[in-house]
Amino acid sequence: QNITLAVILPQSNTDYPWAWPRIGPALERAVRNVNADPTLLPDHQLVYAFKNSENKNGICSESIAPLMAVDLKFAYDPWAFIGPGCSYTASPVGLFTTHWDVPMVTAGAPAVAFYGGVYPSITN
Ligand SMILES: *[C@@H]1O[C@H](CO)[C@@H](O)[C@H](O)[C@H]1NC(C)=O
Repeated sequence: QNITLAVILPQSNTDYPWAWPRIGPALERAVRNVNADPTLLPDHQLVYAFKNSENKNGICSESIAPLMAVDLKFAYDPWAFIGPGCSYTASPVGLFTTHWDVPMVTAGAPAVAFYGGVYPSITN
């Protein structure tokens, strides 16, 4: 049985410190290590599904990211979201993940607004 992580990050723009080329290898290594130890998630396999949060110019899109979050939620019912990273893409997705009661872990979301109580599902 799969446990799915829903990943929403900039796919190629490495100007963002949380872009997929920077985060992806660590995530793949973590998934591989978890799956290599059968005592961690007995009878389950950790997998991830990736969606790009960039617009066609490679910039974080606050309109695309929440649509990707909804698509991932309905397609996979993920146990957690990884990303988004940009503050203005993390904001709407963080409101959804709070509503869905699903954790959202991000290396970004640097805006001070994320340290209040409005986004209890976000860990950054
Ligand atoms: C589990 O995940 C793998 C890899 O993403 C996929 O190929 C497979 O179809 C999934 N199985 C189920 C039951 O969802």
